[in-house]
Amino acid sequence: MASRKLLLLPGDGIGPEAMAEVRKLIAYMNAELGAGFETEEGLVGGSAYDACGQAISEEDMAKAMAADAVLFGAVGGPKWDGVPYEVRPEAGLLRLRKEMELFANLRPAICYPALASSSSLKPEVVEGLDILIVRELTGGVYFGEPKEIIDLGNGQKRGIDTQVYDTFEIERISGVAFELARTRSNKVCSMEKHNVMKSGVLWKEVVAQTHKAKYSDVELTHMLADAGGMQLVRWPKQFDVIVTDNLFGDMLSDVAAMLTGSLGMLPSASLGAPDPKTGSRKALYEPVHGSAPDIAGKGIANPIAMIASFAMCLRYSFNMVDHADRLEKAIADVLDQGLRTGDIMSEGCTQVSTSDMGDAILAQFKALA
Ligand code: NAI
Ligand code: MG
Repeated sequence: MASRKLLLLPGDGIGPEAMAEVRKLIAYMNAELGAGFETEEGLVGGSAYDACGQAISEEDMAKAMAADAVLFGAVGGPKWDGVPYEVRPEAGLLRLRKEMELFANLRPAICYPALASSSSLKPEVVEGLDILIVRELTGGVYFGEPKEIIDLGNGQKRGIDTQVYDTFEIERISGVAFELARTRSNKVCSMEKHNVMKSGVLWKEVVAQTHKAKYSDVELTHMLADAGGMQLVRWPKQFDVIVTDNLFGDMLSDVAAMLTGSLGMLPSASLGAPDPKTGSRKALYEPVHGSAPDIAGKGIANPIAMIASFAMCLRYSFNMVDHADRLEKAIADVLDQGLRTGDIMSEGCTQVSTSDMGDAILAQFKALA
């Protein structure tokens, strides 16, 4: 039996409440399905700061580097508002992303049929939607130098950010997108602005070269990122995988995600480069939402984003595609049955707690076996 090393970092606020529902799934899969997950636990964010004065300890950082995958809850909250910048809760997540070199951020936008009518778009536009945004996460304008505010001495200041992309960064992120497309509907749309940005010219060129060299079986289109934003809202089902840079990806993934539902529903994955010897890659899976201090400790948080992040982990880190499909089907079925946490509650449905939602998804996951 394969050993599958998982590090659980529940974090702060509703992070631990949501993670508890994933633990139930892991326990079941180990006991009944022989999944062989070896789990370790660690502290991150405010809970780590309280324990050791750091946003993540060296020991837990080493566990993350050694794990096959990290499941991350959420960090932060008003309790830690005054702590120094370098050890604030978010620093733990940033350190994980940086040291694990998680350059590929995957944000699916899946519209569960039961929630199609609660989208801000018409139900027929979003119903059955299943697209994946692949955002470059460690380069571009958020990191490029120079990055500063200079005083021009005449009462004016100048703010400067620099968009920088090198060939290898574009190659590796487009490689991830093409590989993922092969496991889906085999279509990639690359978004940049080559009409006004030099980095966009290079982006388009390198994506096209990578496609020609290794992935010519995948259908590739190019779109200007602003037009892409418009098309995402007009007819999102035209897309399968979208690959784009850090800045455009930040915005386009938020747009795509909100086509389909509440923050409490949205999972994500962040992947590193494949090991040249084993092909395995570092990975971290987390819900898109934060620690939700306003509802923490009340047992009412929606655990679906966390559970769906675990489904992504099964799919992308452990190649347990059938289990991932089944878990996503279990989520859809439970929503079809009318169960809702408060954030997605609507008329005629039954409001349930975090733990009831987790139990219902587990029961349905078992029933689908
Ligand atoms: P948030 O995502 O924590 O909450 C925004 C709103 O959505 C709140 O009203 C919350 O109750 C609701 N919400 C979020 N997740 C929910 C869920 N699973 N079920 C039901 N309702 C849910 O964002 P906010 O309030 O801006 O930030 C709170 C804290 O979280 C801050 O300290 C922030 O820095 C941190 N944060 C951490 C992130 C992370 O750990 N990756 C990401 C975003 C924010
Ligand atoms: Mg954002």
